[in-house]
Amino acid sequence: MSDSTVHPEGGSQTVAATAQLTGILRRVASLGDILERSVGDATHPLKIQLERFDSPVHAVIDGRPTTLFGTNSYLGLNFDPRCIAAAETALKTWGTGSTASRVASGNQAGHAELERTIAAYYGRPDAIVFSTGFMANLGSIGGLAAEGDLILYDAFCHASIIDACRASGATFKSFRHNDPADLDRMLSEATVPPSRTLVVLEGLYSVWGDLGAVKDLATVAKKHGALVLVDEAHGLGLYGPTGRGVTEAQGAEHLVDAVVGTFSKSVGVIGGYCVTSHPALKALRFLARSYLYTASLPPAVVASARTAIGIIASEPERRADLWRKAERFCAGVEALGYSMCAAPGPVGAIKMRGLVQGLGFWRELLERGIYVNILVPPATPSGEVLLRYSVSAAHTDADIDLFLGVLSDLSQMSQTA
Ligand SMILES: Cc1ncc(COP(=O)(O)O)c(C=O)c1O
Repeated sequence: MSDSTVHPEGGSQTVAATAQLTGILRRVASLGDILERSVGDATHPLKIQLERFDSPVHAVIDGRPTTLFGTNSYLGLNFDPRCIAAAETALKTWGTGSTASRVASGNQAGHAELERTIAAYYGRPDAIVFSTGFMANLGSIGGLAAEGDLILYDAFCHASIIDACRASGATFKSFRHNDPADLDRMLSEATVPPSRTLVVLEGLYSVWGDLGAVKDLATVAKKHGALVLVDEAHGLGLYGPTGRGVTEAQGAEHLVDAVVGTFSKSVGVIGGYCVTSHPALKALRFLARSYLYTASLPPAVVASARTAIGIIASEPERRADLWRKAERFCAGVEALGYSMCAAPGPVGAIKMRGLVQGLGFWRELLERGIYVNILVPPATPSGEVLLRYSVSAAHTDADIDLFLGVLSDLSQMSQTA
């Protein structure tokens, strides 16, 4: 192996070695080469490592204390002492892992209790817990729809929804983002009967931070007699009088047949769920392959999730505190002249002029102790480079002032798109 062909980070893969491969190995190795070359720098967004956590939003990165404005811990519950205590107790009582699927010995009392808690929180007859939000979409959409059915989904939907559509065997097409007229047209023109059509959308689209037009879209779907599933991954804990999400906030729960969510954001752990209003959908858990054929959540995660959902339901003051901080932050950003993608909220994005400016800006923020996410195509809906921020109830006013101060210093670099 010649030194000249070794990649900057010292990886063992070489261009010369890749050239000798064929077929699948060559394709994968070539992509690896391209990635390694473009991501060689240790401060590349894909290589950032959090070395220590001091709170839900304070960490050490590259030896430097850093305030995190790029987590999904909207309510700071991943460090809540009650969630940690519940996890510790479950860990000592039940061990580290379930070691089996829910349909085998991985069906513990805690999983059933968590499902009852979620169903009661939503006022729905049934809830199914999955091991991630991604799997909740795969299992729910893939379990509901089958060959011969039609799925119509919002063009901005998350990758897990697209993969679920693929896995279902149904025909699937996207309607224009948040466009009830386009959905109406597609439902009118469909050759598949509406009773065999599933409409899928999100409550809060986390790339731009814009709300789903849940009520308007669900009204159109119901006019035609289609089923509606809303993914409230980011809306849970943030919107609605009891935190059930954008569907609740828009008064649209009666129009929605199933809600999918995740524990990996405001709940602070990992896992996902689907709540349904139809007793007929109880069979879903036996149709969902991502429920049947994977290990159930570890007991500590289950206990922590249940505690967190109780806190979300019973402590609206956390939501109010989050919103106060988010609105103060967004007002400050707008006053500095930055171009935001959507109305103020706990998650949103600032538009950059392109990749070079975006990466430079992202690095400057990091050097000044602020971490945000940088999103680039194809992860962004219309090809923009975005700096995505998220505000947490765990941020202090001083954290927000710090970020606004840095943005003010850097405002020269931020000519908006
Ligand atoms: C809308 C949406 N659905 C599903 C998921 C997947 O959730 P999880 O991280 O629990 O797999 C995400 C994650 O970002 C998401 O944004």
